[in-house]
Amino acid sequence: MKKKLMLTGIMGLLVGAIVLVDASCTTQAEKKADVLPQSKELTHGELVTRGKYLVTVGLCNDCHSPKKFGPHGMSLDEERLLSGHPEGSTIPTVDSKSLKPGGWVLFSGDLTAAVGPWGVTYSANLTPDSTTGIGAWSEETFVKTIRTGKHLGQEGGRPILPPMPWEFVGKMTDEDLKAVYTYLQSLPPVKNRVPAPVPPAEAAKLAKL
Ligand code: HEC
Repeated sequence: MKKKLMLTGIMGLLVGAIVLVDASCTTQAEKKADVLPQSKELTHGELVTRGKYLVTVGLCNDCHSPKKFGPHGMSLDEERLLSGHPEGSTIPTVDSKSLKPGGWVLFSGDLTAAVGPWGVTYSANLTPDSTTGIGAWSEETFVKTIRTGKHLGQEGGRPILPPMPWEFVGKMTDEDLKAVYTYLQSLPPVKNRVPAPVPPAEAAKLAKL
């Protein structure tokens, strides 16, 4: 009788341990599915999840998302996520010292416009709007652009200027760039025509001397 009770107890403990191990495996597996490259082909939904993760930790929002300012400081404007430098918004007067090497590089308050020896640049609209964003871009165009640092990935295309860190973003694997592209294409399209970059000589005309 005593033996039987003990045996049942041990069995109970064992079952409990197995359930525990199993539960911790499931949560770990779930976490991994969100962040690690998979050997199997990802579904569309999985690509979107992974792309969102990569865009978040890859800091794309820092420069590409308009911001809101409130009592707690700066936050992302969730309704215009990744839609680039807001069309029609004004930037402070350019300090011409920043247009020469050796000066300070400047950012607008929302980090969507930057001034440096390359002139003035405005972060691109990465939402799938077909005329002002990347809605008409194929996955191949997107990957080529990031890997070559040339607009639309074309050989004669204009170079993509700082502070866009394309050399580093371009180090992502093919699968990861595919995930980033799939996530960006899943965003609500925002119509926002970002101004073209201003070369240093022209920017100097707008400058505070
Ligand atoms: C430090 C700021 C910064 C960060 C971080 C950044 N970008 Fe950019 N990005 C820019 C700017 C500014 C431009 C526009 C450059 C130009 O006009 O030459 C740009 C341009 C681009 C373009 C080119 C669009 C075109 O029309 O050719 C793509 C694509 C892009 N960024 C994707 C990304 C992705 C994806 C991430 C995150 C993994 C990212 N960027 C992170 C600032 C940034």
